[in-house]
Amino acid sequence: MIALLMIIYQWALTIFDLVHFVFLVGWLYLVAIFRLFVPNQKKSLSGQVAMVTGAGHGIGKELALQLSRLGVKVVCCDINEAWNQNTVEAIKAEAGVAWGYKCDVSSASCVHDVSSMIRKEVGDIDILINNAGIMPCKSFLQHSAQDVEKLFAINVMSHFHTLREWLPVFMSRGDGHIVALSSIAGLMGTSNLVPYCATKHAIRGLMEGLKEELRFDNRYPGIKLTTVHPFVVETGLAKSYRIRFPLFNPVTTPADAASIIIDGIQREHYVVSIPKKDFYFLKLFSVLPLSIQHALSDLLEAEVDEETDS
Ligand SMILES: NC(=O)c1ccc[n+]([C@@H]2O[C@H](COP(=O)([O-])OP(=O)(O)OC[C@H]3O[C@@H](n4cnc5c(N)ncnc54)[C@H](O)[C@@H]3O)[C@@H](O)[C@H]2O)c1
Repeated sequence: MIALLMIIYQWALTIFDLVHFVFLVGWLYLVAIFRLFVPNQKKSLSGQVAMVTGAGHGIGKELALQLSRLGVKVVCCDINEAWNQNTVEAIKAEAGVAWGYKCDVSSASCVHDVSSMIRKEVGDIDILINNAGIMPCKSFLQHSAQDVEKLFAINVMSHFHTLREWLPVFMSRGDGHIVALSSIAGLMGTSNLVPYCATKHAIRGLMEGLKEELRFDNRYPGIKLTTVHPFVVETGLAKSYRIRFPLFNPVTTPADAASIIIDGIQREHYVVSIPKKDFYFLKLFSVLPLSIQHALSDLLEAEVDEETDS
C-alpha cells in the first residue's frame, strides 16, 4: 500500500513539474516578446571602474572614451604603450579619469603583475572588458603551429588570465560585469580565418560555461556577462574584405560598435550583435539546413581575403 502511494505521489510530482514548466515557458516567452518592444532600462555606470584590454586602438579605444563620457573611470591596458597612452591622454583631455598600463594580455605573469599594480594604484574594478585580439587572414595551411598558438594566447588565453585575476573579486563582492569580444566568426565559419574562428568560438564557449557555472551557484546573480559578436568594424583589423550587399551587411564604425556594446552592458544583455539585427538573422541562419546555409552564404558573399605580404 505504501509502495503504491509512493508511486502515485511521484507521478503527481512529475505532472505538477511539467504543468509548472509549461506555464513558466509561456510566461517567459511573453516577457521576452514584451522586452523586444520595451527593452530593459539602462543602468548608470557612473563612478564604476572599467578595465579595457586593447584600449589603444579600434573598438577598445572607443569603448574607453565613451565609457569615460558616462562617468566611468577607465583602466586602459594595451601591449602598444604609445597607443594606450594616447587613449589615456584623450580621456584626460575631456576631464575624464584614466590610468594606462602596458600589458601583453597573452602572458599570465604580465596580466598578474599588472593586475596587482591596478589593485594597489586604482583599487578593484567593476567591469572587465576582454577586447584585445588579432586576426591573421590566411588559408588554413598557411598558419604555422606557432601562429596558431600565438593567436590562441592573445585571443583566448588572455580571457582566462584576466578572469583568474578579477573573477574572485567579483565573486567576493557578489557583483561585476564581464564583457568578452567574440565575433560573427564565433557563430559561423569564414574562410581564410579558420584559427581565428576557432578562437572566437572558444570565447563563446568560455562565456556559456561561465554563465552556467555562475547560474548553478545561486550566490552570484549580481555578476553579469555580455558576449559581443561583431560583423566587420572599420578598425583596420580586417585588411581586405568583400561585401556584396552592404545595405544588408553594413560595416560599422568603431564609435557605433562601442556605443552598441555599452548599450548592451547598461541593459545587461547577455548577447550583443553588431549590427543589432544580426542577432535575429544568425538565430534563423542556424536552424536552416546546411545546403541552404551554403546557398545563402554564396548569395551574400561576405568574405575576408587572404593577406598578402607587402
Ligand atoms: N574590427 C572588426 O571587424 C572585428 C569584428 C569582430 C570581432 N572583433 C574583435 O574585436 C576586438 C577588437 O578588435 P579591433 O578591430 O578594435 O582591433 P584593433 O586591431 O583595432 O585593436 C586591437 C588592440 O589590441 C591590442 N593588442 C593586440 N595584441 C595585444 C596583446 N597581446 N596584449 C594587449 N593588447 C593587445 C592592439 O595593440 C590594439 O590596440 C578583437 O577581439 C577582435 O577580434 C573585431
